[in-house]
Amino acid sequence: MTSIRDNRLYIGVFSADELLERFGSPLYVYDAATIRERFRVLRDVLIFPDTDLHYACKANTNVAILRLLREEGACIDAVSPGEVYLALYAGFAPDRILFTGNNVTDEEMAYLLAQRILINIDSLSQLERYGRMAPGTDISLRINPDTGSGHHDHCITGGPDSKFGLCLDQLDEIRALSDRSKLQVVGLHAHVGSGILDAEPFMKAVDALLGVVPYFAHLTFVDFGGGFGVPYAPDERPLDIRDFGDRLSSRFRDFCAAYGRLLRLKLEPGRYLVAEAGTLLTRCNTVKTNRLKTFVGVDSGLHHLIRYPLYNAYHEIVNASCVSGELLVYDVCGQICESSDFFTRNRSISCIREGDTLAILNAGAYGFAMSSNYNSRPRPAEVLIDGDKAQLVRRRETFEDLLRSQITD
Ligand code: LLP
Repeated sequence: MTSIRDNRLYIGVFSADELLERFGSPLYVYDAATIRERFRVLRDVLIFPDTDLHYACKANTNVAILRLLREEGACIDAVSPGEVYLALYAGFAPDRILFTGNNVTDEEMAYLLAQRILINIDSLSQLERYGRMAPGTDISLRINPDTGSGHHDHCITGGPDSKFGLCLDQLDEIRALSDRSKLQVVGLHAHVGSGILDAEPFMKAVDALLGVVPYFAHLTFVDFGGGFGVPYAPDERPLDIRDFGDRLSSRFRDFCAAYGRLLRLKLEPGRYLVAEAGTLLTRCNTVKTNRLKTFVGVDSGLHHLIRYPLYNAYHEIVNASCVSGELLVYDVCGQICESSDFFTRNRSISCIREGDTLAILNAGAYGFAMSSNYNSRPRPAEVLIDGDKAQLVRRRETFEDLLRSQITD
C-alpha cells in the first residue's frame, strides 16, 4: 500500500526515492500485502462450498508472485505452455492448473498432456486434434457466451467479433466430436472480457454459460473466467465485490440445487489480484517545453508499460519526490522512438524537476508482463516488498541479455 510521509511517496515502509537509490531506475515494485488482501477478499465474498480461484498469471508471471498466491491457496489459469512451465516451477501441482489457449498447436497440446494439464478446448479444430492425440481423456470447453464486456474494445473476449471459444450453436457438433474420441467433458468455461466494473454484463454471461450445463452429463466444474476490474481513474468506482460475490454465489447455488448436483465454481482473476499492488518507478531526466506543452521525459516508456498507448489507459502518476507541490500540466513521456510513447498527456502533477522519482500507480497487472526490448532497451528490475523486506525478484536486464538468443557467429 502506498502512503505519504514528509511529502514523499512510500510503498510499504520504503520511500520510492530510497527504492530507486538501492535498486536503480526504472523499477517495478510489488506490495505482497496488497496481493494477499485482494486474494482473501475475493475468496471471502464467494459463499459457495467448492470454489477455486485460478490466478490468471498472464497479468504478472513473476515467480515470487506465483509462489505467494500458491501459498494463499490459488490455482492457475495459464494461457501458454510457457505459463504452465512457470507455474509448475513455482510449485503448483498439475491438477491446479487449467490451460486456456487460443490457436493451440499439436506440439503445445503434447507438452500439456505430458505435464498432465487439463485443457480448455477453444475450437472444433482443436477438439478434433486433441481427440486424436488423447482419446478417452478429460477436457473442458471454452464457450463464447455471445456476450462480452471490457474496459476497451481490445479487451472484449465474448460475442461474434471475438476469436475466442466455441460457439453456442456448435454444441451438437462438440458432443459428437467428443463422443467419437470418448473425451469426457468435465468443465465449462467462459471469459467475456477484462476490466469489468459492473456485475451486470458478467452475470449475463453466467446465465448463458449455465444454459449449456445440461448438454454435458459429466461436468464437475463451471469456470466463469476473470475480468474483475479495478478503478484506475479518479472517476471510476470500484466493482462492488461483495454484491458481485453474493449474486454469483446465490445464482450458482440455486442453479446447482435445481440441477441436482453440486458443481465446483471457478473464477480466473488476474488484474484484481495484482494491479493495485504494483508501481512502476521511473526517474525524470528531462523537462522540455515548447509553446504548447511541458514534456516530462523519464527513463522508461511504452516498452515497460504499454497500456496508455494501447488502450488509452489511465494510470495515476505521482511525483514521489514531492507529492504536494504546485500543480502543473505535463505530458509524461518515455525514451522510445514512437510518437505514442506517453504515460499520460495534459495531466496536472505536482511540479516535477529533473531527478525526481515518478510513481506510475496500479501497474502490477499487464505492466511488466507486456514489456518488450523495443529499441534494444533492457527491461527493468522487479522488487517485492513484504513487511520490512524489499527483495529483488528479477534483476535488471543488461546489454548481454539483448544478445542472449541471437546467433552471432
Ligand atoms: N481468463 C482468461 C481466459 C483471460 O483471457 C484473461 C485475460 C483472464 C482470465 C484474466 O482477466 P483479468 O481478470 O485480468 O481481467 N492487457 C489488457 C488485459 C488483457 C486481458 C487478457 N485476458 C490490459 O492491460 O488491460
